[in-house]
Amino acid sequence: MEFVEIQSLIQENAIKLREEFDPFSDAVLYTGDTLGLLAQIPDETVQLVVTSPPYNIGKEYERRIPLDEYLAHQEKVIGEAARITKASGSICWQVGNYIENGEITPLDILLYPIFHKTGLKLRNRIVWHFGHGLHARKRFSGRYEVILWFTKSDDYVFNLDAVRVPQKYPGKKHFKGPRKGQLSGNPLGKNPSDVWDIPNVKANHPEKTIHPAQFPVELVERLVLALTDPGDWVVDPFMGVGSTLIAALLHGRKAAGADIVEEYVRIARERIALLARGELKLRPMGKPIYQPPERSKEPPAGLFDGVENVG
Ligand SMILES: C[S@@+](CC[C@H](N)C(=O)[O-])C[C@H]1O[C@@H](n2cnc3c(N)ncnc32)[C@H](O)[C@@H]1O
Repeated sequence: MEFVEIQSLIQENAIKLREEFDPFSDAVLYTGDTLGLLAQIPDETVQLVVTSPPYNIGKEYERRIPLDEYLAHQEKVIGEAARITKASGSICWQVGNYIENGEITPLDILLYPIFHKTGLKLRNRIVWHFGHGLHARKRFSGRYEVILWFTKSDDYVFNLDAVRVPQKYPGKKHFKGPRKGQLSGNPLGKNPSDVWDIPNVKANHPEKTIHPAQFPVELVERLVLALTDPGDWVVDPFMGVGSTLIAALLHGRKAAGADIVEEYVRIARERIALLARGELKLRPMGKPIYQPPERSKEPPAGLFDGVENVG
């Protein structure tokens, strides 16, 4: 078993990185089928399982298989995820659409009954809205995906204060009644709601690697901060290039993930090494989204040349 120690500038500690699950390590990068990693993790060990699974749409890292076979594999993974999750823990599945002959099936519709049957409780269906993607010609262009957030019990960790966002009008006060003159909003900020506007990872995103379906670290950071405490384990069964592990390590959690593609695991290892050296480029959490400048009221020079005013 390989054992690598990386000096963490974030925690001033060494990150103990392993290739098989070890409760005394800080991070685990497993190469192979996810069920192999999950089988190594004891019952009720993990505070958060968060992932974006393959969508069975023929991306370069997956072989398209009949939908019922795909769902049967997902059911096994979800069962294992529930087994390893603590009673106070959460499971988050980030999914988009399965597409066949131009007909879309939102994967959360197909997967929800599996989670429900497993005894998990849905707390939010978070809409992740982003600005970039393919331009559809025969339907409206898709610009959102969802995160299904389930808990294992009714007594679960939810650190809302850790993820509050700035109020729209921070100085707004009650203008009548017994609290007249007092701030009307929470000074720590407001609940970020269940619609999240976070840029997706396209060519010019600072986190972009060769992976064709990477999710932004920022998306997972909010889940890690809200649903876990420092020192907890976070597991990503389909980790790709390790974005979940980075979000977890960045905030002092332990993290494990699996991927079947060796090259992705190699990149995940490299990204963790860069993180430990303080050299990994990340889009900072909460950075405002770029807004194109408002269209000028003045028409571009020359637009009306040669047009007579007939008014
Ligand atoms: C949607 S991508 C996840 C990307 C990841 N969230 C990131 O930010 O890099 C799904 C990943 O699942 C991996 N995968 C597919 N089948 C797998 C399996 N049976 N076991 C482990 N990983 C698998 C693919 O190689 C792919 O990297």
